[in-house]
Amino acid sequence: MSTARRVLRTASSAFVLAACSSATPAPASDPGDPLALTPIVDRNPDPNVVEVDLEAKETQKQFGRTPVSKVWSYNGTVPGPIIEAKVGDRLIVHFRNALPESTTVHWHGIRLPAAMDGSPAMQRAVEPGGTFTYDFVLKDAGLFWFHPHMRTDVQVEKGLAGVIRVRGAEEPSADEERVLVLDDVRLKDDGTFPTYLDDTSKMMGRQGNTLLVNGTVDATITVRPGAAVRWRILNVANGRFFNLRIPGVQWRVLGTDGGHFAKPYDADHLLIAPAERYDVMFIAPGAGTVDLVGDPYDRGHDSGKDAPVVVARVRVGGAGVASPKPLPTAFAATARRPDGPVAIPLALDESTNAAGELAFTVNGAVYPNVPTVMVPRNAARILQIENKSEMDHPFHLHGFFFQVLSTNGVPTADERLVAKDTVIVPMKSTLKLATVFDEPGMWMYHCHINEHAEGGMMGEIHVE
Ligand code: C2O
Ligand code: CU
Ligand code: CU
Repeated sequence: MSTARRVLRTASSAFVLAACSSATPAPASDPGDPLALTPIVDRNPDPNVVEVDLEAKETQKQFGRTPVSKVWSYNGTVPGPIIEAKVGDRLIVHFRNALPESTTVHWHGIRLPAAMDGSPAMQRAVEPGGTFTYDFVLKDAGLFWFHPHMRTDVQVEKGLAGVIRVRGAEEPSADEERVLVLDDVRLKDDGTFPTYLDDTSKMMGRQGNTLLVNGTVDATITVRPGAAVRWRILNVANGRFFNLRIPGVQWRVLGTDGGHFAKPYDADHLLIAPAERYDVMFIAPGAGTVDLVGDPYDRGHDSGKDAPVVVARVRVGGAGVASPKPLPTAFAATARRPDGPVAIPLALDESTNAAGELAFTVNGAVYPNVPTVMVPRNAARILQIENKSEMDHPFHLHGFFFQVLSTNGVPTADERLVAKDTVIVPMKSTLKLATVFDEPGMWMYHCHINEHAEGGMMGEIHVE
């Protein structure tokens, strides 16, 4: 940690200058690496406190071949900066809203006091020109992210999303490590964003026409031949699922949102729904260029017939690694099955209202008319999520991890029990998710296709 911090410090004066001009992005940590995320400046000398300034504002960005676009950014970059910390650190964020509309900052996947969660259920909106200080302890290792929780479909699409990497005691060692933020935006030829909520984007969530890896169009990711590569991948898209494959490469899937699998497994596809994270390793092939492919995946309404896309190119080059770090085969088991929980049934569905508009519902109601679920503090509960609709919904719970106990009655194998905060509930199926509600307050849950959440598929759990 201390080395990383020293690097951040030296970058700080340049960063402040860049931050003054909204058109100039702050420098990346390694200027030679166009895909490096911008490290945020930690201005607190205490090694156990990360204290940062975060500003949401309008910025200009060049996406590939289109003219410059007006985006909304955290500290001038899209995606926003990366916050680096270690388990147990206190994070203090001095947030300022320089956008023309209200916003909040939600800390996706982080277990924190409800007043710091940034959901409108617990926090007054930060008005234009307003400020708010977020202050909480990072209890868990993992890759998390932050994004607005007001008009999420628009504010996230316009660029507001940043990463928090929290290092823990059990970090796998790799020859190279990267964070990859996958996204897509829908841009018109003149570089502007179209109106979001046309009927098709409302149905499936808006899928963009421009794929981004760490904010870059037509990204090239470099790896060394034979290296044991660790990628930590986050999907911040509004609606797109990424079904990733590199021809000839096996993913060693180490973990996901909030933890590692007791037994990592190998797969040739890695499916990542909006807001999910995966921690993977693989052994890089020999020198050359291969594609990181996004294969079709059927999440409903004929989406399985989509053509494959090239998400990025992987350039394998440089000095080869003769003896790569071994890929991990086991982690300490952390996931457990809580005893005797009571079930809370939540049915997800889509419907058309009297005016002929599409609505997304929980137990037949549209948020904010979905009745609040009451849970006593420290109670273990099963969320029984039944997806009655013809499409998948990535279900997300704020403030707590859950374990997927079963899918359509089939129990999850012990070695696949893992802490999740977002999970795909496939069409016409039922998942049982177990969690212990050990933090009081009002907590939101919703589909993480942002158009579905804003369209009503959202609710609140009150822990008293
Ligand atoms: Cu990342 Cu309520 O969401
Ligand atoms: Cu969240
Ligand atoms: Cu949904």
